[in-house]
Amino acid sequence: QLPQKISTKAMAPSNIALVKYWGKEDIQIPKNTSLSFTLSNCKTKTLLELEAKKKASEETQIRIFLDEEETPSFVPKIQKFFRLINEYCPYLKQYHATIHTSNSFPHSSGIASSASGMAALALCLVQIEKSLQPDVSEADLRKKASFLARLGSGSAARSIEGGLVLWGKHQAIKESSDLYALPLSSEIHSIFTDYQDTILLIDRGQKQVSSSLGHSLMNGHPFAEARFAQAQNNSTELQSYLSNGDVKSFMRLVESEALTLHAMMMCSRPYFILMAAQTLEVIHKIWAYRDETKIPLCFTLDAGANVHLLYPKKYKDEVQHFIQQDLKQHCQDEAFIHDEVGEGGRFL
Ligand code: PMV
Repeated sequence: QLPQKISTKAMAPSNIALVKYWGKEDIQIPKNTSLSFTLSNCKTKTLLELEAKKKASEETQIRIFLDEEETPSFVPKIQKFFRLINEYCPYLKQYHATIHTSNSFPHSSGIASSASGMAALALCLVQIEKSLQPDVSEADLRKKASFLARLGSGSAARSIEGGLVLWGKHQAIKESSDLYALPLSSEIHSIFTDYQDTILLIDRGQKQVSSSLGHSLMNGHPFAEARFAQAQNNSTELQSYLSNGDVKSFMRLVESEALTLHAMMMCSRPYFILMAAQTLEVIHKIWAYRDETKIPLCFTLDAGANVHLLYPKKYKDEVQHFIQQDLKQHCQDEAFIHDEVGEGGRFL
């Protein structure tokens, strides 16, 4: 017998990809393995309330509140998500749902909330499962949360676990799967366990190209197969640098991944330039700073103009000084967000 009302709460952080996921089959089956650092400060908190339908035939009502304000524009995405997960959460169709969600980062920051948002919602859902099946293990619940989150937004699969996370089948990694992500934190050198990520908000607007359109541009892309093979190799290579603490090689590979993601978009049909003039200014300043100071500061990019500055924690003061003096002037409203590698999602 299912309860009349269910209420669950969870939190999940955002993540930053080091090897990029770009290209997919239906239902977020990635074309290549990706590797990411889970972040700490940029996160979503979600409360999911379910209320039993009076009649089974009733259509499911979904209401969503972002920062306590009802936001009907999010409903279609959640309706689609609920349809996709129906067979894995069969109890869901007996309920109407209300979702209260809030992000720790500003709405207009150009930081996508889909990874943290979908991961938080998936954790709420598996918490319900835990109450229905108390003997299911925590590890299995988290794996299922990653599986469900993936169906909402691919990169969300990587936000359940903390530290270094791998998603997507890779020949060399037996437990890897296209269906859910794997934590690899135990395999990383101490220099990377508290790596810093300061996000320079070059453009705080909505994404110019949606992820779905972006991924679809890899279908029939002239360089698709070479890119997918490169990402598989880069995943293996990067793991070795992460485990032996080779920061120099890490930086070279991570920057090359970011530029390759943008290069793919520049030569797809239709083509896009998602960097801004300020993105390039910042990249050149990072390179000059690195040459001059020997501080291992590198960058990565998402599918937009914002720049993620990655560096070891022991250089935090120096890099913060550099941002204040030289970089924040390139940001919209001089805005940036400080983050670092964190622990992954949890039930609240
Ligand atoms: O999860 P999606 O469908 O929003 O795709 C994310 C794609 C990138 O952010 C560009 C790269 C990645 O691996 O996170």
